[in-house]
Amino acid sequence: MPREIGNLVIFDDPVAVDSIVKAPDLFRKNFSLISALGFSRFNTNDEDWAVRRTITQDRYLSAAKPAHEQSVAEIYRVGFAGCGASLANIQRALFAAAMNIFYKAFGLVPEIAPTAELLDRVREVLRRLQYYSWVTPTNAERNGAIHEAHKVIADFGSQLMADPRSAAEMNRFAEKARDIDGFSPIEEFVMNLFAGVETTVTTALWVIDRLGANQQVQERIHAEILADRAETPFTDCIINETMRYFPPIPFLTREVGADTVLDGRTLRAGQLVMVSIVGVHQNPAYWESPRTFDASRKEFMEDSFDRRAFIPFLTGPRMCGGARLGRLEVKEAVRAVVRQFAFSRADDVIRFDYALALRPASGLSVRVSRR
Ligand code: HEM
Repeated sequence: MPREIGNLVIFDDPVAVDSIVKAPDLFRKNFSLISALGFSRFNTNDEDWAVRRTITQDRYLSAAKPAHEQSVAEIYRVGFAGCGASLANIQRALFAAAMNIFYKAFGLVPEIAPTAELLDRVREVLRRLQYYSWVTPTNAERNGAIHEAHKVIADFGSQLMADPRSAAEMNRFAEKARDIDGFSPIEEFVMNLFAGVETTVTTALWVIDRLGANQQVQERIHAEILADRAETPFTDCIINETMRYFPPIPFLTREVGADTVLDGRTLRAGQLVMVSIVGVHQNPAYWESPRTFDASRKEFMEDSFDRRAFIPFLTGPRMCGGARLGRLEVKEAVRAVVRQFAFSRADDVIRFDYALALRPASGLSVRVSRR
């Protein structure tokens, strides 16, 4: 039976979650948290969503094609080659690379420093809104957060429209969505950018964190990467295990569209339910010792896991639009960083930060040296 927090029912059974995510008409996107930043394919439904999806989806699929693997690898190689041996520098290089890859998918080139600063502001707004979804804000607090959300979108807009190529791309967005009332190409772009960059950087940082915690695993993966073979089972396995253990988006909410019963629970139209991706990933009926981080986890090495129990990118019609690109980025980021740097940690305490994405806390105790 699903558990409850207050009046929020939490689903972490892979079969129940599978039926939720495969029925987007019945379990609808309701992203009250994100809506202060505007609307995009992330937080809309039905025809509105379907039109928005066509603006970006073919770009993501094309950017992830095998023909682009080399150029993604090169972006990370060059980014790390010019970066000092500290976690903060590596984090900056990861953000810069992910922004470059995202903009490149649209034929654009970002201005790294101001774009990174704007993304920091988006994260801060989301962190505040997240907090207010737990603790009811005063009117002044709510208005303050909404004001900052509008301002960060407006500032992003000024930056994008100042570059004629970006402005032309925003026109393409607007042209495709001309039937959507109140469509904002900037909101669409910024929310897609945040979704794409935050998640991939976070995943790579968690892999680094785990490599730092286990020298034996790190050396095995370093040797595998240096061997430069087509197959890299240990690297693939630690990336999967990292996304199982630290899914960048650990929770989702959905709004029930019509009265229904799921997993023995009656749900009413309008009610919010929570999908716990982290709960699905730690469900003991599907994983051996789910609370253990196992860099060579049998279920991944033997490809024997139940697909419904491993959903870092979700599944169903509303699954991640950038799943292939995200996987490619994380793999190339890990290959490049492990070739160039070695990591160590004084302890093995998990410290995290949560603002929509689950990320390692900044100022972590990972020590970095050049190889
Ligand atoms: C490791 C990397 C990534 C992870 C773990 C991840 C995870 C997710 C998850 C769980 C969702 C579903 C959210 C929900 O239903 O509420 C999602 C949606 C989405 N993601 Fe990703 N993502 C990653 C990378 C990316 C990248 C690289 C892009 C774009 C370049 C991207 C674009 C999107 C978009 C556009 C959606 C909304 C899909 C829709 O409903 O139309 N993501 N992602």
